[in-house]
Amino acid sequence: MILCGDFFYRGRITDCCVKIENGIIVDVKKDMKGKRVKGVVMPAGIDVHVHFRDFRESYKETIESGSLSALYGGVCLVVDQPNTDPPILDAETYFRRMETAGKKTYVDYSLNLGLTEDNVDEIDEILRIVEEKHYVPAIGEVFLKGKMKVGYDVLKKARCKVEKLITVHAEENDDERSEVRAVEKCLRIGKFHFCHISTAEALTLIYNSNSTSEVTPHHLIFSNRDIKYKVNPPLRDGKVRVELVKRFWMADILASDHAPHTIEEKMDGAPGFPGVETLYPMFFYMVKKGYVKMRDLVEKFVENPAKIFGFKRYGEIDIGKYANFAVFDPKMEKPIKARDLHSKVNWTIYENLMAIFPRDVYIRGEKVLEDRELLIDRGFGNVL
Ligand code: DOR
Ligand code: ZN
Repeated sequence: MILCGDFFYRGRITDCCVKIENGIIVDVKKDMKGKRVKGVVMPAGIDVHVHFRDFRESYKETIESGSLSALYGGVCLVVDQPNTDPPILDAETYFRRMETAGKKTYVDYSLNLGLTEDNVDEIDEILRIVEEKHYVPAIGEVFLKGKMKVGYDVLKKARCKVEKLITVHAEENDDERSEVRAVEKCLRIGKFHFCHISTAEALTLIYNSNSTSEVTPHHLIFSNRDIKYKVNPPLRDGKVRVELVKRFWMADILASDHAPHTIEEKMDGAPGFPGVETLYPMFFYMVKKGYVKMRDLVEKFVENPAKIFGFKRYGEIDIGKYANFAVFDPKMEKPIKARDLHSKVNWTIYENLMAIFPRDVYIRGEKVLEDRELLIDRGFGNVL
């Protein structure tokens, strides 16, 4: 199959054709005879921080509903987090979840392995067993506070035992200084990937180290005056938010931290916002408006996620990569409405913000969304 159109290719939009065989791009050329795709063909997104719940929390999200939401948002691959109920702390639970994902996921799916003080001594062995069957992107949801809390000693032990990427939630408590302090302490231990960094100071520290950073749309777009619902780390005051926006260029990865809870749970203070479906559409709109550079968006939502988490056939439109595309029609701007989204929770903090949702989505060369119409069944996605 050959597709021609305006592709995001090697850093810019280029009128060219891509030849696809068995889902993989085998040639990119200026002139080939092929089917013309209308719109801007972007590489599909990779969201490295989603919470698809399932198990005992299926009432608020499942791999099925979460991955459908991802697909409608132009995302072709997700990294799910292990703070499920029960959490993913051993090989057996990991395999059980991947089996569900194999039957239910719409987009390609991968899963981090959890770390606590109870499994740190065997973490290398658990990882070895899991990796006989699956690719583990990272040891993830390592919290310095809260339910699945890990101390710096556990972090140090784990860092010594395995080579694998470890993703840290650098929060000792809620204030800004504590994020900076936690990042400083972790950097002294070794190399980590820092989830949802909310302050410019912490971002700068990470930028000047060999570790990597992640930022979320909610910390960039909203201050604690705009949204009263809880999230971890908390939304900051206006000044801190603006400083973070100014240093957006320093962030390695943009991820949603899609964390659905029911309205009732939110009223009770459950932290987190859904966001996997709205990230790419909101940022593509901001690109159109000139607020964000297209190159920065692709770097942080496609290229770096693939590089940092080790997804070899993902991350760009080029020879040897999967033909994963999100096709945008820049004219299709519209306000976000929760009722149009596909997460099980029927609310969004981005209600009425403008976005451009992808018109078509391709995964491994196959059209999975056409004119916003779903063309595939659950289970289409690959588990890694
Ligand atoms: O607000 C959050 N919610 N932050 C996290 O890090 C976890 C997440 C959740 O699982 O709900
Ligand atoms: Zn998280």
